[in-house]
Amino acid sequence: MPGVSLVGSGSACLTVRLTNDDLSQRVDTSDEWISARTGIRQRHIATPQDSLASLATEAAQNALAMADMAAEEIDLIVLATSTPDDLFGTACQVQKALGATRAVAFDLTAACSGFVFALVTASQYIRTGVFKNVIVIGADVLSRWVDWDDRTTCVLFGDGAGAVVLRASERDRLLGFELCSDGTLNHCLNLAYATESADLVKDIAVQKGTFSPITMNGREVYKFAVSRVPEVIEKALFRASLTTADIDWLVLHQANQRILDAVANRLDVPSERVVSNMANHGNTSAASIPLALDEAVRAGKIQPDDVIATAGFGAGLTWGAAIIQWG
Ligand code: UT7
Repeated sequence: MPGVSLVGSGSACLTVRLTNDDLSQRVDTSDEWISARTGIRQRHIATPQDSLASLATEAAQNALAMADMAAEEIDLIVLATSTPDDLFGTACQVQKALGATRAVAFDLTAACSGFVFALVTASQYIRTGVFKNVIVIGADVLSRWVDWDDRTTCVLFGDGAGAVVLRASERDRLLGFELCSDGTLNHCLNLAYATESADLVKDIAVQKGTFSPITMNGREVYKFAVSRVPEVIEKALFRASLTTADIDWLVLHQANQRILDAVANRLDVPSERVVSNMANHGNTSAASIPLALDEAVRAGKIQPDDVIATAGFGAGLTWGAAIIQWG
C-alpha cells in the first residue's frame, strides 16, 4: 500500500490587519479583554478585491514551490472551506488559477475541522493508489459572515489560507487519525441558512433567504474543546502506536490560547512545543492549522521527521486529530 508524505506547505499573505484597538472602536470591548480571554492581538482581513479562490491559490502556489512540484503534476485538489465564493464549490476556480490541468478538484466542508478532515480524506486516495500528488488547502473568509456588532464573536475570527502538498511514498507519514461528529451539539455554532417562503405559483412556495451571521455558544464550545480534543489526539496516537511523549509539535486549530494551553497541559506537552499564531491571526477556521504549520516550517521549528499532533474542532460539531511526520 502506498504511503503519504507531506512535502510542502504554503500560506497566503493578507496585508490588512485589524487590531483589538480597531475593534474597540466598533463594539464595547478592549485589547485587555480580548488578549486575556483569547490570546488574540490582531487578525488579518481579506480586502474586497480578494476572493476565497485567490487566497487559496496563493497558499497552494507557495506549497507547490516548497514541494518543487509543477501544477500539472497535481492529481487532486481538496479545498476545505465554509466560505466558498460559489456554493457549487470553489476548488475548480483554484484548479484553473493554478493551471492544474490534470487535477480533479472539490470542496469539503467541516468548518474548523475542515483541514484535518480534508487531509485524511485526500490521504485515502493516495493509500489506495488512485492518486499520487495531492494538494490540500484550508481557506476561509469568515469576515464575510461575522456579525461585526456582536462582540462575543466578532473579536475571534480572521481570514486566511494555508495548504500542504501530499505525495505518494514508500513510508506512510500519516501515522494515525481519528475523526468525530456530534450533530446533537449542532446548535452551539452556526452559520445557518435563514429560510423565508416566497410564493412561486398557485399553491407552491419556494425558499428564499440568505445565510445568517455566525452565532456561537462560546462557553459550550470551550467546554467541548478542552474535553474532546485531548481525547481525540490520544486515540489518534494509539492508532499510530505512539504516546504523548512522542509528540514533537502540537499544532491545534487556533481558536483560543486558553484552549491550546489546556489541551497541552492535559497531554503533558511543554508550552515550547505548542505552535501558536493566535496573537497574530485569531481564528481562521479551516485555514488555521495549515497556516500555523506553514509558519512553523518556514521558521525552521518543524524539521523533517518531527512528529506533529494536529487537531481541528468546531461547527458540526466536528473534531478530529491526525498524527503526521513532517517531510
Ligand atoms: O473555531 C470554532 C471553535 N470555537 C471555539 O473554540 C471558541 C470557544 N469559546 C471561547 O473561546 C470562549 O468561550 C470565548 C472567547 C468565546 C469567550 O470567553 P469566556 O471566558 O467564555 O467569556 P464568557 O462568554 O463567559 O463571557 C464573560 C463576560 C460576559 O459578561 P458577563 O455576563 O460576565 O457580565 C460577556 O458579556 O465577558 C463579556 N464579553 C466581553 N467583554 C468584552 C464577551 N465578549 C466580550 C468582548 N469584550 N469581546
